[in-house]
Amino acid sequence: MKIGVFDSGLGGLAITQAIIRRLPQYDYLYLGDTKRVPYGGRSQETIHEFTSQALTYLFKNDCQLIILACNTASAEALRKSQQEYLPHNYPDRRVLGMIIPTAEAVFESRSPGRVGVLATPSTVESQAYVRELRRQCITVEVAQVPAPLLVPLLENEGWKYLGAVLDDYLTVLLESEIDAVVLGCTHYCLLKKLVRDRVSIPVISQDEVIPEKLANYLLRHPEIEDRLSRYGTREFCVTDITAGSVRLAAELANEVVDLKRVVLQ
Ligand code: DGL
Repeated sequence: MKIGVFDSGLGGLAITQAIIRRLPQYDYLYLGDTKRVPYGGRSQETIHEFTSQALTYLFKNDCQLIILACNTASAEALRKSQQEYLPHNYPDRRVLGMIIPTAEAVFESRSPGRVGVLATPSTVESQAYVRELRRQCITVEVAQVPAPLLVPLLENEGWKYLGAVLDDYLTVLLESEIDAVVLGCTHYCLLKKLVRDRVSIPVISQDEVIPEKLANYLLRHPEIEDRLSRYGTREFCVTDITAGSVRLAAELANEVVDLKRVVLQ
């Protein structure tokens, strides 16, 4: 059985490639909902509905374990998926999110007193990062800035505007005198260099966190790991393909990616 990775769009490809580099032996199925990206301004009900459809697709296509690489889906739909969807539909499979491992990583090599989180509006509104960061350290202060423009610019090749937009968001975040910044959206892995060029505090980027966390999870859960097949296959599915998405996928994955269009129900 495979490892599935789900993101609202193509941003999750950067994380998927980082996971594949760390754990190349397994079989991977990526699903990006490019037809409906961005999720970041949608309601919790809609995000849950879309996420359930994606989980169904990936489970039906033989995934044992799914990484919800989309922070917005992790924030708004993970808990309900684990508590309701899985027990009713696929009790022996697993879904893992991004927020807990990212919050853990913030405190692994340092103890920031005030953490800044850059994320989509839905993720910010859910307060999921505030909850999980406080679970790690009860006294931590958290400043969040919603960044509604970054994903649309990234998904639509608006590269040249990114620097200016990012400057605006970072200025607001830095006013809170933060000691570390979390890039709380899969897509922002692509911005880590731009962010690191602009701030002198630690920047937590999920492509540098999630692969090791997953390797660790698999070590701790042999009952899941034993079910994973090891043929080194990779499939990349999306719900819409345009010339732009083909270019962007190649940019994100650092190689030409063979995208296959699928329909979610
Ligand atoms: N890439 C997703 C995330 O990590 C969501 C972006 C979006 O669809 O708005 O939050």
